[in-house]
Amino acid sequence: MVTDNRQKNKPDSASHRLHTLSILSGKGGVGKSNIAAALSFALADFGKRVVLIDADLGMANLDILCGVRNARYNIAHLVEGSRNLNEILVHFKTSERATSLNGAVSLLPGGYGIKEIADLDEYAMERLFDALSGLEDMSDYLIMDAGAGIHRGVLSFAYASEITLLITTPEPTSIRDAYGVIKSLGAAAWQGSKETASGLMLVVNMASSSREAQEVAERIRLASMQFLGNAPMYLGYVLKDDVIERSVKNCRIFYRSDPDSNAGICVRNLAGDLLRLCEGADIKHEAFKDSGRKKGMRGFLSRLAGTLFADKK
Ligand SMILES: Nc1ncnc2c1ncn2[C@@H]1O[C@H](COP(=O)(O)OP(=O)(O)OP(=O)(O)O)[C@@H](O)[C@H]1O
Ligand SMILES: [Mg+2]
Repeated sequence: MVTDNRQKNKPDSASHRLHTLSILSGKGGVGKSNIAAALSFALADFGKRVVLIDADLGMANLDILCGVRNARYNIAHLVEGSRNLNEILVHFKTSERATSLNGAVSLLPGGYGIKEIADLDEYAMERLFDALSGLEDMSDYLIMDAGAGIHRGVLSFAYASEITLLITTPEPTSIRDAYGVIKSLGAAAWQGSKETASGLMLVVNMASSSREAQEVAERIRLASMQFLGNAPMYLGYVLKDDVIERSVKNCRIFYRSDPDSNAGICVRNLAGDLLRLCEGADIKHEAFKDSGRKKGMRGFLSRLAGTLFADKK
């Protein structure tokens, strides 16, 4: 399982910039973890070096989902200071295509015993932030599976990230909870800060067709526009596909075993669209306007610290 492209893949120019992306939902069980993992491997297929973080601290399970048996160390060892990042990261073998393009995926497994990032003490937080800073040079994308709901920890990741993917399914309960997250993100939760999550994007999972996904996204966007005066951009969809359930049962990432399944193609499309938004010509899309937010890991960490420490003062 272990191959490491990192050493030979140093950033090739001073313009190297890490993109931070968090994945969250209102309702649980809508496919965040599957999409986070599949998207990581799809981005690697486009030649990107990805670090996938299980930031769903209360319910960490990406290691199992990714077929990692008995991950020896996890984020809990990092915050208690007993292990360093290199000892904890799990490096995956990627597809031939990813390897030839220098794409790579590593996982920072989540740990048990930590309920919320917001509960960490000052020293633990400092160790976590130091370790995350170390990821800047070795990766192009940081993908965080942030969990469900509107806890402060989940919203902090969304707020701090350059891009936030809000996952919903076509179920009315999931739609309503997605709207609840948008509302919470837009509310004055960000004490003292004028910034808002600028790169909030909707992904509709378990859709029966592209048309259904579009209708779901439009409903959410309309309600957001009408009641909140702003709406997230619709990024795309993932079709309902039995291949995911089968892969989950076998502790495999569906994108690795079935990249050309219906769901696999959808995830590759999402990855391509994200790359265009982050690095390509579409960067001026109105929902992704440069709001003057500091980019890269430094921007991410300063916003994360800002929200986490805001009411500890
Ligand atoms: N596109 C899809 N088609 C069919 N089934 C899917 C799809 N996406 C997810 N699932 C099913 O939904 C289940 C939950 O997915 P997943 O664990 O990724 O959700 P989650 O949002 O991370 O859940 P939690 O909130 O508990 O962390 C999977 O085990 C899988 O069976
Ligand atoms: Mg999950």
